Amino acid sequence: MSSALGSQQTGDTSFERDVFLIPDPNVDVRFGHILSADLFGHDHLAVLFERAEKFRELDMGDAADRAELAALHVGRQVCSLFYEPSTRTRLSFETAAVKMGMGVVSTEAAEQFSSAAKGETIEDTIRVLDEYNYDAIVLRHNEKGAAVRASEVCDTPIINAGDGAGEHPTQSLLDAYTIAREFDGQLGGLNIVIGGDLRYGRTARSIAKLLSQFPDNHITFVSVPELQIGEDILRTLEQTGTTYQKTDDMLDAFSDADVIYWTRLQKERLENPSLILDESFTIDNRALGVLPQNAIIMHPLPRVGEIAPEVDADPRARYFEQAGNGLYLRMALLHEVVS
Ligand code: NCD
Repeated sequence: MSSALGSQQTGDTSFERDVFLIPDPNVDVRFGHILSADLFGHDHLAVLFERAEKFRELDMGDAADRAELAALHVGRQVCSLFYEPSTRTRLSFETAAVKMGMGVVSTEAAEQFSSAAKGETIEDTIRVLDEYNYDAIVLRHNEKGAAVRASEVCDTPIINAGDGAGEHPTQSLLDAYTIAREFDGQLGGLNIVIGGDLRYGRTARSIAKLLSQFPDNHITFVSVPELQIGEDILRTLEQTGTTYQKTDDMLDAFSDADVIYWTRLQKERLENPSLILDESFTIDNRALGVLPQNAIIMHPLPRVGEIAPEVDADPRARYFEQAGNGLYLRMALLHEVVS
């Protein structure tokens, strides 16, 4: 079985540097199964962000640059297995693979179109895919913990593309990449407001975990009590010394924020379908009025009303750019995983 992430350095060095876009050549960072955001430290991000910038440059370049990119991983194949709907995650992974010359074999709606519909377990499906000798398997599943279970029966690196209300580690990587590009490579010393459905929203859980690896961040979780962030995430924050608060007052939280990370109500996961997030959780002109001028507004997308269309024209809106960053970050990640 391939290892999870690791680096040769021992001890926690992530708190020593707050600018990290330059990888340390003395550190050998390894990438295996990508299961949780807490597998990544400073060194992994440094390698990924540098690589993502390089791939962006080549992809935006001339035909020769594009050809260089397309020659990188000829002969390698990625399998993309999605049991839940996806737009950005699946298409950016697959596009990333294709742009680097890899072959892609893909099943969307695997809950309907794979043998899962006949009752096959995820473990058995993954055991079979492992036999096909892919270089990586990108897996999205509706059950929390499914990616970990898959990784336990498989040598091929599993990339968790979202496991129910569990985690979405690659989203948190592209989120961190977006923040780092905005704040001169810095991921510490920030006031981050994470709001919306924090109970069932896996992206909120993963970005909170990842940001807790960096010094002096303060996280304000904004939601109704029923949809507040899980105790497991709060324990992680406490262990890393990341300060936090919980509130249902969006406007108050916005008034001294650097980063807004907003999310939608995860209707498909609600045990109580009558739960809603009312308009006091909608980012609109009123919220823009209290938000500092140098703050940025992020969202993993899709949005379904919780960011009003009027916000799109505001210079602080970053959610479409954030999605675009996902392509280059996922190119970097695939490159590291298959190399
Ligand atoms: C997120 C997801 O699937 O968790 N989408 C994404 O990958 N960008 C967020 C969501 O669906 O709300």
